[in-house]
Amino acid sequence: MKKLIIGNWKMNGSISFVDVILESIKSPDVVIAMPNIFLAYANSKCPKFKLAAQDCSTFDNFGAHTGEVSAHMLASTNCKYVILGHSERRSTFEHDNVANILIKLNNVISNNMKAILCVDENYEALLDAQTLSFIEAHRDDVILAYEPLSAIGTGKTLSTAEIAHTLSELKAKYNNIQTIYGGSVNPGNIADILSIEFLDGVLVGGASLKLNDFQTIIAAAG
Ligand code: PGA
Repeated sequence: MKKLIIGNWKMNGSISFVDVILESIKSPDVVIAMPNIFLAYANSKCPKFKLAAQDCSTFDNFGAHTGEVSAHMLASTNCKYVILGHSERRSTFEHDNVANILIKLNNVISNNMKAILCVDENYEALLDAQTLSFIEAHRDDVILAYEPLSAIGTGKTLSTAEIAHTLSELKAKYNNIQTIYGGSVNPGNIADILSIEFLDGVLVGGASLKLNDFQTIIAAAG
């Protein structure tokens, strides 16, 4: 199966960069998680392009929740994936605890999108019993992204053997669920990372903001 390449722009990007990406990237295996404010624009320019959001509200549909964006609203922009539980959110916003991530998982999947659920080295604690049974029931709609804290934005990845070890544990525990890796993926290490057994794709932060680097990563995935 082709590897999934997901770019995570975090709080970066602009309308002009959206234009550049839509014109330059044609692979159907690429997904871009851009700030919500760009999603409807990107979809109107290129409805086939696969879009992701970087989070959603615990509230769904509509309501008096100032500043919130629901999974229902994200789905209305033709967004197909939502990243949940990124460590940058878990560490900054207490609200992104295990119980609320489970609510968000449910909102994403009930709006017919897939969840990209991020976990770090501490995945046993992040994936509690309730999350485990939810994931088991929705195995095809959840992608587990293993993102070791030491690798995010640092330029240092774990060894390929270490990554393979964790991905194999996650696959075994979660009935062969899709597993991707994220953390300092770049043009220099993408070939090694793609060779990792049990890897179904990559989540790319910083390098997804540099067009040449991102194109090299996409090309490596074939
Ligand atoms: P990075 O970020 O590629 O810049 O390390 C990855 C991520 O946070 O998803």
